[in-house]
Amino acid sequence: MLSAAEMLSQFENCYQLGDASMDKTHQESLRHCHETAASSGPQFAIAFQRLLDHTQAHFDEEEQRMLATRHGSYKEHRADHQRILGDMTRFNERVQAGRGMMAKAWLTDSLLAWFDIHAKTMDSALASDLKADA
Ligand SMILES: [Fe+2]
Ligand SMILES: [Fe+2]
Repeated sequence: MLSAAEMLSQFENCYQLGDASMDKTHQESLRHCHETAASSGPQFAIAFQRLLDHTQAHFDEEEQRMLATRHGSYKEHRADHQRILGDMTRFNERVQAGRGMMAKAWLTDSLLAWFDIHAKTMDSALASDLKADA
């Protein structure tokens, strides 16, 4: 499994979708993942909260754009966002209570693996639709 830093270094080849707004948000997201994974103690809790806030805004923006362009996979795409956001919210509760170990493992394993697949499938399909619409 790649680290967030490795994913950032391969961004242009692997994750760039050609929609400036989505690409910017996705780079920010990977940067938040990297910073969070690299921090510990009280800094980890601050970084994890920042990652959660950023993820909420990231998903909200994509969902608004899906609605605005009547994207066909809105329901499935939104459900995938909600599942990962639910997990992140539950981990954040543990992190804010000082129990960060499992959250860090989840971030470096599950979240980044999810990001990889989600960006290459659902977000890629959305970006194609947005370009066709433009
Ligand atoms: Fe996204
Ligand atoms: Fe998405």
